Amino acid sequence: MTLASKFILAVTVLGSALLGGAASRQYKPTKTFAEQELVPQKAGGLPNCFPAIGFKMPLHIPHSVVNWWCDYDTEYAFMGFSYEVTACQSLEQLRQEFLDIRHTFKGRYVRLYGACDRNGFYDDIVDAAWRANLGVHALIWFGWDDPDIWKTRRDVLLAALHANPKAKFVTRVLQFGSEPLFDWALPPLDLAEQVKLAQENLTSLRIPVTISEMAWGYQFSEPRGSMKIMDQIDFIDAHMLPFFSTEASTADKSWPIVENDINWFVNNGRGKKIYLSQNGWPSTTYPGVEPNSPSAVADVSNEHDYYTLLDEKCSYFKTVGGRGIGWFAHIYSDNQEPGYGIYGKDGSLKFPFAPKIRC
Ligand SMILES: *[C@@H]1O[C@H](CO)[C@@H](O)[C@H](O)[C@H]1NC(C)=O
Repeated sequence: MTLASKFILAVTVLGSALLGGAASRQYKPTKTFAEQELVPQKAGGLPNCFPAIGFKMPLHIPHSVVNWWCDYDTEYAFMGFSYEVTACQSLEQLRQEFLDIRHTFKGRYVRLYGACDRNGFYDDIVDAAWRANLGVHALIWFGWDDPDIWKTRRDVLLAALHANPKAKFVTRVLQFGSEPLFDWALPPLDLAEQVKLAQENLTSLRIPVTISEMAWGYQFSEPRGSMKIMDQIDFIDAHMLPFFSTEASTADKSWPIVENDINWFVNNGRGKKIYLSQNGWPSTTYPGVEPNSPSAVADVSNEHDYYTLLDEKCSYFKTVGGRGIGWFAHIYSDNQEPGYGIYGKDGSLKFPFAPKIRC
């Protein structure tokens, strides 16, 4: 058995132990860090683990990630934001916006989107995430221009994860993306192999690996082996963009579309934890962001309605599939991807946004 599969087995055994009943869903306090043991668990059972709201970062870098991360079962409802890094934000901006995600919205994670090839950029992400108590879904971005640049990005990111002593404490997962199946970035069997190689590389850091993809990406490439990727990944980072469905109309009527794709992931996801990593409804259309249904409506109130719909389904997201599903809002600001932002280009909120993180 390889080290990587031992790690996966450990995760699976832990996961099944947790499925035993409501009582076992409670966070079990870690014995790893003295600092944590001084923080009493609040009434109502806010979990005391990274990156739960209320968790206090230790003053020193811990020795090990054992018992560091919150149980997957506690990670449901609103998780945080997709955050595009193509602008190569400064360290100062990353720090400020990650703190905003944590404090204004109770975000627990950022899921990176796009790529910044600036030297040391991932160290800045780690710095800002550590300060803000945010976990990171990191991303190896394929892009559309240079067919081989992902290899450089992969090597740079893997090296940074090993070299930066804080990286493994904030990096929840390494994703290949975005939508590498839908975009034909790599043949599915080659992509499955890349996931495996990255898992082997990251075994000592215990960082899981996945791809960031929609149900349709897996479905249409099934004959070419996409389910081998499903077998290989540690958990599922699913894309949910019901605006592009041929059935789309208004966001408040989109639940059957969402539920249909979630059911596919639950039924085909080998019992793995699911997050909706790229998930939202645009407030505008433009070339590249066009609906496939003549009735689909893109405006700010529909963008808002979509998140309201998800927020009203908190108890569904708490238990669906046995382990619950956490959802990210795509995306932090219209400056990152026009129309999808929670913030507009002028930096003000487009609509009130305060989704529940537990229920
Ligand atoms: C992981 O990959 C990086 C980048 O290719 C490399 O520098 C490093 O030595 C690898 N580590 C392991 C443990 O394989």
